[in-house]
Amino acid sequence: MAAQPVLKMNLETDYLVIGSGAAGLSFALKVAESAHVVIVTKGEMNECNTDYAQGGICSVTYEPDNFQKHIDDTMVCGAGICDPKAVELVVTRAPQMIKDLVQWGVRFDKTVEGRYELAREGGHSEHRILHHKDETGAEIERSLISQVKSHKNIEVLEYHFAVDLLTQHHLGQLVTRHTPGVECYGAYVMDLKRECIKTILARVTVIATGGVGNVYNVTTNPGVATGDGIAMAHRAKAIISNMEFIQFHPTALYNPGERPSFLISEALRGFGAILKTQDGKEFMHKYHPMGSLAPRDVVARSIDNEMKVRGDDFVYLDITHRDARETINHFPNIYRKCLSIGIDITKEMIPVAPAAHYCCGGVQVDLNGETSIKRLYALGETSCTGLHGANRLASNSLIEAIVYADQAARHSAAHLHEYGLQHGIPQWNDDGTTATEEMILITQNAKEMQQIMSNYVGIVRSNLRLERARRRLEIIFKENEELYLKSKLNKELCELRNMIEVGYLIIKQAQAMKTSIGLHYSLDYPLETCVGRKIATEF
Ligand code: FAD
Ligand code: SIN
Repeated sequence: MAAQPVLKMNLETDYLVIGSGAAGLSFALKVAESAHVVIVTKGEMNECNTDYAQGGICSVTYEPDNFQKHIDDTMVCGAGICDPKAVELVVTRAPQMIKDLVQWGVRFDKTVEGRYELAREGGHSEHRILHHKDETGAEIERSLISQVKSHKNIEVLEYHFAVDLLTQHHLGQLVTRHTPGVECYGAYVMDLKRECIKTILARVTVIATGGVGNVYNVTTNPGVATGDGIAMAHRAKAIISNMEFIQFHPTALYNPGERPSFLISEALRGFGAILKTQDGKEFMHKYHPMGSLAPRDVVARSIDNEMKVRGDDFVYLDITHRDARETINHFPNIYRKCLSIGIDITKEMIPVAPAAHYCCGGVQVDLNGETSIKRLYALGETSCTGLHGANRLASNSLIEAIVYADQAARHSAAHLHEYGLQHGIPQWNDDGTTATEEMILITQNAKEMQQIMSNYVGIVRSNLRLERARRRLEIIFKENEELYLKSKLNKELCELRNMIEVGYLIIKQAQAMKTSIGLHYSLDYPLETCVGRKIATEF
């Protein structure tokens, strides 16, 4: 960002929603009937993880499925440490949320008989995933955006980057993690087009900033997923939990140089695709009785193990045995993408490797989506509701985002009258700072951080690797903090600062684990010792 005169301004609203994915947009639609909402989003509205979701969204729809089966699958996949109340809430509210989505215009695929066509993914004992081809997220995002754009009470500010949350700290008071009654009054937001920092005051603030994939070297997440909301909430002294549970999707398309990695949906395995080593041999039966459809943590670790033992960079996913027309009809997006790089998936096997995909931890919230800071809610991938425990069941995240948006909408609407706008917050002050002259100082540190996280804090960890990562990240942290303090803000600098903070949280919370469980697997604690996990897997 070039040095230019800084333009400052204030905005006031009932609700400030940060993020325009499924969580932020569905929340906004639910509160906007009786209140004014400002949504800020750092790119265009549809730049978000939601837009990339392929497989679908979970809900119990028809027999023989039932709530108990969905609850059990979620708990088993989460290695038994899910919060049972969160699981019950999401599973039982899901059917109503699907109705809301349909009412907003989402078109889920149906059979010729007019029933919803349900897919199956890893860890599910039944077919229960509603979908729109293999582009479910884009369909949900399209419908929500169209509703939001036509709503008179919702104002959307694209290219607006939330920098920090406002609390008593900005009124000159000391706020620590032990200070009782911390409240959120809105946020400082950088207008990326006009190059100024705005103060947005709100009676209620909602963080719905999505995932953290870009903390890693290889990820399925788009560039916006830099963990901003988690870092902001941490700086504001909110409680952050379960960050050690980073989910690696087992099957991202192996196409070196492409970022983000293109996802090969788990629904393809639900449709019959089989994992094979490069010499064409099946291997998943060695690791788990559910084979290629085992829970995601097991499949990712098994692939990682096969690749390491054999010295390979990828394994294959084989769907060539299914009818070509059916494959193309169910997975047009995957078919098109693979064909564009010369792979006809109806005739050839697909090279795949694991990629950082989903953050099971985040800003800790209660059943209403409220954080440990008053007037601050966290929704969707940014939050830690307890639903996923140590490992997320496939396609449980979109439904979690919609259910908790609904909970938070009702809870915050009931309390809105108790909150006023907080005046006396100073304007952003960047006196004495200068524009960053060398972007390489930022981009190189980002690359180093991603390498450190992938090599030492990836699918398989150890005490030594984690400590090494912590020490190296500390150096990058100090360098970046120095730069941050003397620089005028730009998006890349803020994102790197946030990613370092998130990396630090992942390492710190992983170091506190003295066991291997779910997605946190350490060579120093080789057995999965949690009693909730039904099948012990040793590597
Ligand atoms: P997002 O949809 O990521 O939205 C976050 C928003 O916050 C974005 O608009 C972003 O620009 C904005 N933002 C971030 N930081 C800032 C900031 N500082 N200031 C302003 N705005 C900011 N889940 C399923 O349930 N089923 C699936 O089939 C599925 N498939 C997936 C496939 C892929 C390739 C990926 C990446 C994820 C998939 N997931 C799936 C996970 C799921 O898509 C996400 O967990 C979910 O969409 C998150 O929604 P969200 O609203 O919380 O965040
Ligand atoms: C997929 O389609 O494999 C992704 C599903 C998910 O991440 O929930």
